[in-house]
Amino acid sequence: MINCRRQDHIYLLCIICTGFMLLTSIFNVIYIVQRSLSNNISEYTQTSPSSLSMKQNIPLNKSEAIFVKKKDDHFEKTYQTFLHSFIQNYLTIAETRNLSLTYCPPVPPDLQGPLKVNEVPKNFSITTNSSYYTNVDIGGSYQPKTCLARHKVAIIVPYRDRWDILTHFLYHTHQILQRQQLDYRIYVCEQAFDKTFNKGIVMNGCFKEILKLQPNVHCFIMHDVDLLSIDDRNMYTCPTYPRHLSVAIDKFHFYLPYATLVGGVLAMRREHYLLVNGYSTNYWGWGGEDDDMHARIINKHLKVERPPASVARYKMLKHTHQKLNPARMKVLRTAHIRIDSDGVNNVKYKLLNTTFYHLYTHFLIDVGEQPK
Ligand code: BGC
Repeated sequence: MINCRRQDHIYLLCIICTGFMLLTSIFNVIYIVQRSLSNNISEYTQTSPSSLSMKQNIPLNKSEAIFVKKKDDHFEKTYQTFLHSFIQNYLTIAETRNLSLTYCPPVPPDLQGPLKVNEVPKNFSITTNSSYYTNVDIGGSYQPKTCLARHKVAIIVPYRDRWDILTHFLYHTHQILQRQQLDYRIYVCEQAFDKTFNKGIVMNGCFKEILKLQPNVHCFIMHDVDLLSIDDRNMYTCPTYPRHLSVAIDKFHFYLPYATLVGGVLAMRREHYLLVNGYSTNYWGWGGEDDDMHARIINKHLKVERPPASVARYKMLKHTHQKLNPARMKVLRTAHIRIDSDGVNNVKYKLLNTTFYHLYTHFLIDVGEQPK
């Protein structure tokens, strides 16, 4: 048993650890009783039901994907989520307190400025324990080792069916976030099944699931998977107002196509995401949900900040672009009246699976059917 004395500066830590041990014991007892009463013993699967894994035919084993949750075992889910968020949130505090770290400098010292985009090495893998990012923890998270990060950031990457692009994105982006000395984690939020894409539902669902795993994340960055930052001075943090980070994209000749664009890469504080009620869930197909987000931001009397175009530069990876949904303009006309009734506060989705790969946390989300 831990010997807690009031005068110890780790008194708080002791209480947390003792509390955790007690809770774990209670969970364990309930778990054993529940298992012995039930004939229907569930197990961790070795083959993931994730469509991403199936599509890519990736074999999963325990070193590659931990805590693969089975859909119907609610107790197991609660337990694993609790355990994971404890590890994420409290052990971090313990680690940093013990080392008595000081905050990282306001301007990270190792930034390089303009960057080249390198090819992905042949032996690079985003799922297995890659030798390329040994400092990244399972689930795609990282914290600076020598100082205490000033920002805790979740990167939301809506995704479907672009494996090579996702691989390139992760290969390129982890190094930048590390040089920026952030406490970050990359979430790849995949829409399941071959149904009409709904980016708003995917992002809102992902936002809610992230808060269950990491309740103390304060900064969210919604990031298209095909955009690679080519200047690491473009900080992935959340300032006073929502900040549109992808100002100058090579595909648009490094000019902002129109003044109200907030698509591509957008950084928002958690409270602002909630204030604007997240993204609209009414845009089925490609495009429009970002224009709607701009209307929400303005309607709630926030502003959109932008870093200088000389810094906020991106390369767009080549892929076949989807046709923009022509109906989006009609939906956009009613953006202002839907803000409080259509968004993260009433989003409907099903989380089918959560998998913690080496370089990212994967959520598989069913957005349901497009209304007729
Ligand atoms: C769409 C946006 C998209 C933008 C840039 C607009 O027409 O409505 O969703 O981000 O074009 O491609």
